[in-house]
Amino acid sequence: MPSERIPEKYRLGRGFVPKARYLDPEFQALELDKLFTRTWLMVCREEEISRVGSYVEYELGAYSIVVIRDSADSIKAYYNSCRHRGTRLVEGCGRVGTFICPFHGWRWNLDGSIKLILDQEEFDPIAADNWSLVSVRCDTWGGFVFINMDPTAEPLLDYLSPIPEYFAPFQFEKMRVTWWKSFQVPCNWKTALDGFLESYHAIGTHPQLMRSDKHNLNLATLREIDNRIWSPTTTYERHATYSAVGKKKEVVPDTEKTPEARGTDNVTDPRVSFAMSVQYIYEDMKGLENPLSHRAAEELKTAEIPEDGNVYGKFRELYRDLSIKEGIDWRDITQEQWAQAGTAWNVFPNLILLPNQGSAFGYRARPVLGDPDSCTFEIFALEQVATADYDKRTDVKRQHFDDFNDADLGDVFMQDMRNAKNVTVGMHSPGYDGHRLSEAQEMTIYNHHRVADRYIFRED
Ligand code: FES
Ligand SMILES: [Fe+2]
Repeated sequence: MPSERIPEKYRLGRGFVPKARYLDPEFQALELDKLFTRTWLMVCREEEISRVGSYVEYELGAYSIVVIRDSADSIKAYYNSCRHRGTRLVEGCGRVGTFICPFHGWRWNLDGSIKLILDQEEFDPIAADNWSLVSVRCDTWGGFVFINMDPTAEPLLDYLSPIPEYFAPFQFEKMRVTWWKSFQVPCNWKTALDGFLESYHAIGTHPQLMRSDKHNLNLATLREIDNRIWSPTTTYERHATYSAVGKKKEVVPDTEKTPEARGTDNVTDPRVSFAMSVQYIYEDMKGLENPLSHRAAEELKTAEIPEDGNVYGKFRELYRDLSIKEGIDWRDITQEQWAQAGTAWNVFPNLILLPNQGSAFGYRARPVLGDPDSCTFEIFALEQVATADYDKRTDVKRQHFDDFNDADLGDVFMQDMRNAKNVTVGMHSPGYDGHRLSEAQEMTIYNHHRVADRYIFRED
């Protein structure tokens, strides 16, 4: 992207992102017009629309799109507007046999074809297919339903590369939503995501993660800072990830994700230290780990570990045995696959996925029309189900909270949400010009802007 195409106030520098990209209503209008209309966007999970006629509305800025299962093995997406005078056809989520416009009652079949026009002889006799609902591209991957408003966009799987390949061992398609919360956050949609796109903030924001006393939320001590975890970022053509690879001071250049690096200070028994970390994630964040990994962690605390074995290996063994006993399709994941999978991914533009074996987190942010300082943020948890339950219907209830303080998010998420608000207040200061990013640990954030420029300022 030649930089002269980009207005100076939006131009990226070396590791520098000007604040206008977060604060200008004009920039948000460009994002809605040029970025969100040309990228693949995750709308919902397939299990949310498991019955024929089940739909989910996707609101984005001024747009509303509906995704619906129109037959047992087909999902379609339409602009959610009546062909008569534009009325929104459906709201939220639910199930219909036909689309019926709430205004004058025109009707459509689930495949989008027109079914009923009141007093049709009074209208210009255009061919009936001209009255069909207007389709939006729709495709699925890993149990997620995506849409794209750009008819010329590349196929979903090409767009997502390398995520489908790197996520394959985690079997997202076998996971189901356990909970889904959305809430308003007083920050730009990107600020909400940025806080989850690096782990550089962990020692400053979540010091309890490395403590035995998880209720101690006091600032990290200098000794704790000295033991901080290092989490370098990796950027791809479109998407980006970071990986927690171990203690900064011990890191060797040949980096790989080492889940065994997780631990809790002051606990000398490494089994207990590791188990506490797993259990805290599940108890406080209520996702990413799951009841089975929590149980495996409990067993780990008193497990016999052979001389040549390690704590992490023992945990994997216990977790595998429990999973198989519960009918889960277990795959052994190689060290290389763990390393590729990273910790958290920005699925460009507005989704974050955290893969883990047996469970995962997803975060999504959407702008609020006309207000760059406000967004709708969502967190959802997925858990792999037993093979016997693949076809069992899951009743997904999304919960919405106007205020994130009411969403019962736990300490870790609340710490992140408070940051998002404080960043926004601080960014408005005339003394602040933009983000200065670590070239090792925050390039996920930079990459988002770099890729966004390709959509927003491209010639056409
Ligand atoms: S606006 Fe939908 S039928 Fe008139
Ligand atoms: Fe955080």
